[in-house]
Amino acid sequence: MRILAVHMFLGFLLWAPYQCLECPFGCECFAVTRTVKCVSKDLLTVPQSIPGYSRTVIITGNNIHQTAPDSFTQLENVTNIILSNNRITEMASHSFSALINLRFLDLSGNQLALIHPEALSIPGSPLQELNLSHSLYNLTALTDLTTALRWGGLTGLLRLNLSGNRLALLPPGMFSHLPNLQQLFLANNSLVAVYSGTFSGMNRLEVLDLTYNAFRTFRDDALQELEKLGNIRILLGNNPYTCSCDIHNFVTWLNESRAQVDVDSVRCASPRALTNTQLRGLGVQVIGCVSPVPEEVAGLTLETSYVFLGLVLGFVGMVFLFVLYLNRNGMKKWINEMRDACRDILEGYHYRYEIDSDPRLRHISVANRGCRTQGHSALALPPQMPSDTCIVQVPIDTQVKQVKTSPPVNL
Ligand SMILES: *[C@@H]1O[C@H](CO)[C@@H](O)[C@H](O)[C@H]1NC(C)=O
Ligand SMILES: *[C@@H]1O[C@H](CO)[C@@H](O)[C@H](O)[C@H]1NC(C)=O
Ligand SMILES: *[C@@H]1O[C@H](CO)[C@@H](O)[C@H](O)[C@H]1NC(C)=O
Ligand SMILES: *[C@@H]1O[C@H](CO)[C@@H](O)[C@H](O)[C@H]1NC(C)=O
Ligand SMILES: *[C@@H]1O[C@H](CO)[C@@H](O)[C@H](O)[C@H]1NC(C)=O
Ligand SMILES: *[C@@H]1O[C@H](CO)[C@@H](O)[C@H](O)[C@H]1NC(C)=O
Repeated sequence: MRILAVHMFLGFLLWAPYQCLECPFGCECFAVTRTVKCVSKDLLTVPQSIPGYSRTVIITGNNIHQTAPDSFTQLENVTNIILSNNRITEMASHSFSALINLRFLDLSGNQLALIHPEALSIPGSPLQELNLSHSLYNLTALTDLTTALRWGGLTGLLRLNLSGNRLALLPPGMFSHLPNLQQLFLANNSLVAVYSGTFSGMNRLEVLDLTYNAFRTFRDDALQELEKLGNIRILLGNNPYTCSCDIHNFVTWLNESRAQVDVDSVRCASPRALTNTQLRGLGVQVIGCVSPVPEEVAGLTLETSYVFLGLVLGFVGMVFLFVLYLNRNGMKKWINEMRDACRDILEGYHYRYEIDSDPRLRHISVANRGCRTQGHSALALPPQMPSDTCIVQVPIDTQVKQVKTSPPVNL
């Protein structure tokens, strides 16, 4: 018994290093299915020495913060890598470039904040499916990803899953360097609009999933962009469509488009009266649009109201003139009185102003040196004052009169 136990112990000791060499710590290796699994082992890095025969590598539920250029080496046989839910925040350049036969890469459920421009590039572009759902941490990650898709040379990519990333916008031309992409999943984001150029360069697209987003309608440029994709399958269901007049062109497009749309789930979310009504086939009156015939009627009523306004104004004007006519004598008297009053006041002003400021008057008074003082004071003196000391009073007066009779010069 004891010998057997020792043998077993020795055997274990001899075997253990071999086991360690064959399968990394914390992983299970299945040579027959050529699969390696490292599931929920709190690994901090991608395990080294993954067996060279592996075709499928499943590393999930760990604590791996980043992928590095040396994370996967000597793994030419690997075709599938599942790296979901590892709290990966950073993908360095050429993280996967040793995986020259990699077809399927699942990075879903991570928190990517930093994606280097060449993080996804692999010589020969073998990658066909990329799952990045629930994996972009913030807007920086989206910008990074756009660059990585451009620089990655992912010309072989057929399927891209970007669902559940809280995306509110898509950079124009984001997918334009994925010429062979066939299926694009953008479900469960916060997209509100498609712009012209959003899907440019995708000539092979077959499926576009835009369900569970925040679209209220699609405007004309968006509809043109969707129509450019041809008769592909477009999933637009479960968006909060607002069935007001703004949705008119979208309904027309749904009525007429050659695209295969999931019309059964394209329904109004509001207004309350139309909640859950299917959009396709909605009539223009139902969504509150003013149709051409009512427009004409509206124009007509507008015209008649203008005519009515004109008539009323004309009538008021005539009444006013009539009242004036009846009061014409009183008016005339009143006008005359006003004119006289004005004239008196104005004359008073002219008189004083001109005497004070007119240089000619000053010359005259200077010329009559003898009675300069009197001439001046004479203006202020009361009329009953004897003026025998000076006769210049008369020229001054005429001068003033003259000026007064030619008011336009001074006014
Ligand atoms: C890949 O698989 C082939 C055939 O099974 C094998 O000959 C080769 O050594 C493997 N590559 C590595 C790096 O182990
Ligand atoms: C990731 O997306 C692929 C399709 O590209 C899908 O087959 C796979 O199931 C997805 N992974 C998860 C964890 O949902
Ligand atoms: C995104 O997250 C990273 C890491 O936390 C941070 O450095 C970066 O500033 C964030 N970007 C935005 C736009 O918030
Ligand atoms: C995309 O990923 C999400 C979440 O991982 C998954 O539920 C969905 O099935 C995937 N879509 C496709 C078409 O594989
Ligand atoms: C949508 O995404 C949110 C988080 O982004 C997630 O909690 C939710 O389960 C997802 N729903 C579906 C149907 O995938
Ligand atoms: C859509 O088609 C239905 C008939 O199928 C029609 O009654 C409706 O007016 C159309 N709506 C628009 C906006 O063209």
